[in-house]
Amino acid sequence: MITETTIKGIRHCISGYRNDNPNAKIGFIPTMGYLHEGHLSLMRAARKTNDFVVVSIFVNPIQFGPAEDFETYPRDERRDLDLCRAENVDLVFIPPGSEIFPESQLTSVNVKEISDPLCGRFRPGHFNGVTTIVCKLFNIIKPDRAYFGQKDGQQSLVIKRMVKDLNFDIEISVQPTIRETSGLAMSSRNVHLSDTARERAAGIYSALQKGKSMHKSGVEDIDAIMKSIENELKAIPNLTIQYLDARYTDSMKKARDLERPVIIALAVYLESVRLIDNIILEPGDRNGKA
Ligand code: PAJ
Repeated sequence: MITETTIKGIRHCISGYRNDNPNAKIGFIPTMGYLHEGHLSLMRAARKTNDFVVVSIFVNPIQFGPAEDFETYPRDERRDLDLCRAENVDLVFIPPGSEIFPESQLTSVNVKEISDPLCGRFRPGHFNGVTTIVCKLFNIIKPDRAYFGQKDGQQSLVIKRMVKDLNFDIEISVQPTIRETSGLAMSSRNVHLSDTARERAAGIYSALQKGKSMHKSGVEDIDAIMKSIENELKAIPNLTIQYLDARYTDSMKKARDLERPVIIALAVYLESVRLIDNIILEPGDRNGKA
């Protein structure tokens, strides 16, 4: 496994590989490190269908708000590199902040409308930071395919739209959310949860699952499903709901019915740790529907 910390170094490595292997496919997984099974699942998916797998590890300052956890975001570079090596990753790009942002960045990429609700509403500027860094990384690495997790459902949609609107020749693959056995969606931030909070956090996915079962068993009333999820969440001690919202997956407009695929997404605080999760309800999931 090769490790590069500079843009010059990684470009040299990738162009050398492309010259030697003109038909090879390069798969890319952007991450902020402190890797877990969710990240590893993306590496495995990339490994299956690409000849060369590149992972980036960079805690991107411009996607954190001023009062957010950039400073305390968990980091463990040595462990991350060991995990990448164990997944047969070919190349890791792990630049220092000064390499990516040598001076203040005057250019940014903004995906309008679909960045606005859900996390966009409560983390102003967040998706702008995400699309700007992913755009930079795409230009540096120039992969054929890039892998993202459904766990950050809105992020995946925003990236897909950026790729479409800006004509990147990159296929975006969205992989399922990897969960702990309890159902809790894996996240680098879970490390900040106490044992009690971690146990309680399992209730978040149960609440979403209950909504999904209601839909499967034929409930068509989206408000009834949302109310049930809300009640389940409210029963979890020390949990504060930041948002719980249902949106059509194609437009991110507020969902009024379940006639099209809908994402039910939430962000909650549990003991000051912010957790997000989502499920998708497809019209075809409902009993009696094709
Ligand atoms: P990070 O939170 O490190 O996540 C990197 C990738 O792993 C994202 O595509 C995310 O959706 C995916 N991921 C995280 N937890 C997952 C889980 N439990 N199951 C499946 N996939 C999971 O998302 C970011 O970093 C950043 O915003 C980034 C795209 C790297 C830009 O800075």
